[in-house]
Amino acid sequence: MSTKLKAPKGTRDLAGAEMSAVIRLESVARAVFRRYGFSEIRTPLFEHTELFSRSLGATSDVVEKEMFTFTDRGERMFALRPEGTAGVVRHFIEQNLNVQGAVHRLYYMGPMFRAERPQAGRYRQFWQIGSEHFGQSEPSVDADTVRAAADILRGVGVGFVVQINSLGCGACRPLYRKALSDYLHSKRSELTEESVKRMAVNPLRVLDSKADGPKLGDAPVMKTYLCPECRVHDEKFRSFLGSAVSVEENPRLVRGLDYYSRTVFEFVSDRLGAQNALAAGGRYDELVHLLGGPPTPAVGFALGVDRVVSLMAGEEKRPQNFAVVISLAEPADEEAFQLAEAVRSAGWIVPPVFSHKKKMKNQLAAAADSGARYALLLGEDELAKRTVSIKNLETRDQKQVDISAAVAYLQRESGLFHSAPAQER
Ligand code: HAM
Repeated sequence: MSTKLKAPKGTRDLAGAEMSAVIRLESVARAVFRRYGFSEIRTPLFEHTELFSRSLGATSDVVEKEMFTFTDRGERMFALRPEGTAGVVRHFIEQNLNVQGAVHRLYYMGPMFRAERPQAGRYRQFWQIGSEHFGQSEPSVDADTVRAAADILRGVGVGFVVQINSLGCGACRPLYRKALSDYLHSKRSELTEESVKRMAVNPLRVLDSKADGPKLGDAPVMKTYLCPECRVHDEKFRSFLGSAVSVEENPRLVRGLDYYSRTVFEFVSDRLGAQNALAAGGRYDELVHLLGGPPTPAVGFALGVDRVVSLMAGEEKRPQNFAVVISLAEPADEEAFQLAEAVRSAGWIVPPVFSHKKKMKNQLAAAADSGARYALLLGEDELAKRTVSIKNLETRDQKQVDISAAVAYLQRESGLFHSAPAQER
């Protein structure tokens, strides 16, 4: 007995209305990125595992337990990319982009892979749209990164709140880490085993813990430890954002990946349930250097496509310029084929000709279901008279017109294009 084939756990196909929403989101994002001067990059879906362990942090959840890894026949270790930033940074370093000019702005869209426990809004293969901006340390660039993400979400009609925080820099974060560590030690007996383990390697991540976070309301916050430079950066970032994007300060926002410094942010929605982050990102001024490149400031974000499309309103109903050609008898097949091509050439959506092998009634029902506005019927009668019967699938009105005037008739009837009236029969 054969078992039914299924998509792997945590994955799914993008099709139908969801796929249409993805296409719309991608096209809005491309237009926004173009306005901000970004160009597109596509990096491999897999990279050397080391790239991710060195950039995301060996003790981050993603590297510790969520990567899909494999070895090739030469025993080299690879991982499916769990996010887009590391690959783009690798590209920046490998191509010596810093010598070719100071500033580089790149955006990407594509699938990412994390072996997380699947739940609503959390998949093992999910899609991101993101950008990375290299070579500028000004807080205005952080603000523009947030604005670009906001422009995309607004462009597809999805509401959000932006939470922001500063994680400080190599100079001030160690002082904060120490203070937080001391505090966590004083709470040790109340914490879960997982948090006690995290405490030793990355105390900031304990604040992120679902179980323990709420018990740590009086934990010290990074804000009070910021050095003067980080404080000024943070203030300017917030003032550049101004009223264009309304933000909430979240002093406990720490992010799950280790490469961040200074600005971090998350776009959240209260319509998403537990997985409420629509997009996230921040500054990572030390990462390029850490991976072997020249010291280069950078900032970026990534938006979770799956989550954003789940909040996008349904696609607009049927397009105006959608017609179906139905051949009613074999001798009409050739003419129907030519007619479909002629209507398509005028910019209409016309699927391959519906054949005479099924009943006309069923073909008309299928045409209406598929979203078509008009059915173009060609049978032996029409063929003899060199005409076509055009049925409006909404009003059910039907007219016979000269076949040579069919395109002009459709253009006029649909109100899409202005053209001379076609002669009706
Ligand atoms: P991240 O917060 O790990 O950041 O992911 C960004 C967004 O991807 C999340 O806010 C969420 O919408 C979506 N996402 C993450 N994991 C899943 C999942 N398992 N299923 C569905 N959606 C998911 C990054 O990836 C950074 N690379 C962002 C960045 C770019 N920072 C600087 N530059």
